[in-house]
Amino acid sequence: MRTHVTDHPLIAHKLTTLRDRSTDSPTFRRLVDELVTLLAYEATRDVRVAPVDVETPVAPARGVRLIAPKPLVVPILRAGLGMLDGMVRLLPTAEVGFLGMVRDEGTLMASMYATRLPDDLSNRQCYVLDPMLATGGTLAAAIKLLADRGARDVTAICLLAAPEGLARLEESLAELHLPVTVVTAGVDERLNEHGYIVPGLGDAGDRLYGTV
Ligand code: URA
Repeated sequence: MRTHVTDHPLIAHKLTTLRDRSTDSPTFRRLVDELVTLLAYEATRDVRVAPVDVETPVAPARGVRLIAPKPLVVPILRAGLGMLDGMVRLLPTAEVGFLGMVRDEGTLMASMYATRLPDDLSNRQCYVLDPMLATGGTLAAAIKLLADRGARDVTAICLLAAPEGLARLEESLAELHLPVTVVTAGVDERLNEHGYIVPGLGDAGDRLYGTV
């Protein structure tokens, strides 16, 4: 597993406002959207393209185009939904699958309550959206499912990660032999006893959508 922590003052600036408890939901949603587009730029560095010839108004030119099969973007509900628009703005031709996962706040175990994904992901590049890589359980389960369906590689885009979650993810993916990259705006200090990232930004789903 490869972890890429972005190093850019604009990303750091937006992340700081996200962390601030006084940032309201509309501003939080807008900042998540903007941050994801910036992270997506880094996350799609290895997206597959093929050479193509075009005619400019002046002369022939050689360029590249994204190739089939289309990349698949998979937001993990609920909080990953807040990252979807920012991602597809950069990859408008991508297809979108959905995974609904919920964490038991007592045991911190993740369980899946909804799946809407192609059965066959052979040769597909997959981009998983999950804002908080905390214990790593949710992301590990999601990536295993994509691997079982034949994904070619998986890139997870997370706003923040905890060291414990990155270590657990790496350990649980070791047997998969699947190229996995995590792109994140920051690796924080630790997890607290409730499985929250410290200092983190609180509950990303609640800050995006309220406490329903
Ligand atoms: N999920 C969140 O929304 N925040 C955390 O800090 C950990 C898990």
